[in-house]
Amino acid sequence: MTDVGESPGSASRHLVILPTGEDVAKYVARLLADAIRVQPAVCLGLATGGSMVPVYRRLVGLIRSKRLDTSFVTTFNLDEYVGLPGHHPQSYHAYMRQHLFEPGGFSASRTHIPDGMAEDLPAACEAYDADIRQAGGIELQLLGLGPNGHIGFNEPGTAAEALTHVVDLTQETRRANARFFRTGDTPVPHRAITMGLGTIMEARRIVVVVTGRAKAAILAHVLTGEPSSRYPATILRRHGHVLWCVDRSAASNLPPLEAHCTPSPP
Ligand code: F6R
Repeated sequence: MTDVGESPGSASRHLVILPTGEDVAKYVARLLADAIRVQPAVCLGLATGGSMVPVYRRLVGLIRSKRLDTSFVTTFNLDEYVGLPGHHPQSYHAYMRQHLFEPGGFSASRTHIPDGMAEDLPAACEAYDADIRQAGGIELQLLGLGPNGHIGFNEPGTAAEALTHVVDLTQETRRANARFFRTGDTPVPHRAITMGLGTIMEARRIVVVVTGRAKAAILAHVLTGEPSSRYPATILRRHGHVLWCVDRSAASNLPPLEAHCTPSPP
């Protein structure tokens, strides 16, 4: 484990590089299972996307093998497409039900995903942030990293203080997500609701999962390049408790961080 804090020596911003994506999934699933075991009513912030599928598969395995009670866990997902009903197979509602909520035994009444079908979208966004506050805030937020440096659907240029809001998805993001829409007739939606960077930064702890060679260049930029709103994930370098869990392929463009960062124990 390597410290990648802005001030080398701060023990709270870490990078862990593991051999494979499956190792990353196992590691992150254990972190999540531990959070639930230690605090059964924990409030988790959750993500979707390809990087999270193996994480949730492992987490469901741990929930079952360790008989973890998830019925008191509260969850808030990062985002949802605008215009896809919750039963649509490519909606994030359906993804979460399939990969985690149903097999993991989560209480439907405690799981929250932005409502992309709301008539009044700005009001739905405001209510989402209010619900997060009402739940006491997010203890542990899980994030993936988009190919353009987005987190949630906070595309390049998003204001640092933005709360939950409606976004126009970039062509790059729509192209990247087209792989999930291959079988249906529905085109990738043009808009989504996302927790804002301000909402994400309020989480007390953040775990970012980055796997695969396709993420190597953006990960190197986000961790070592100039922080800028052109790469929204660079905002995470201002957060005090971020753990980057990456595989060797994703880490392949990183400079030898050990040379200028303090190694610290797991
Ligand atoms: C998903 C989300 C996105 C993804 C990111 C990486 O809820 O908010 O930011 O985490 O696009 O996606 P994958 O894991 O598919 O590469």
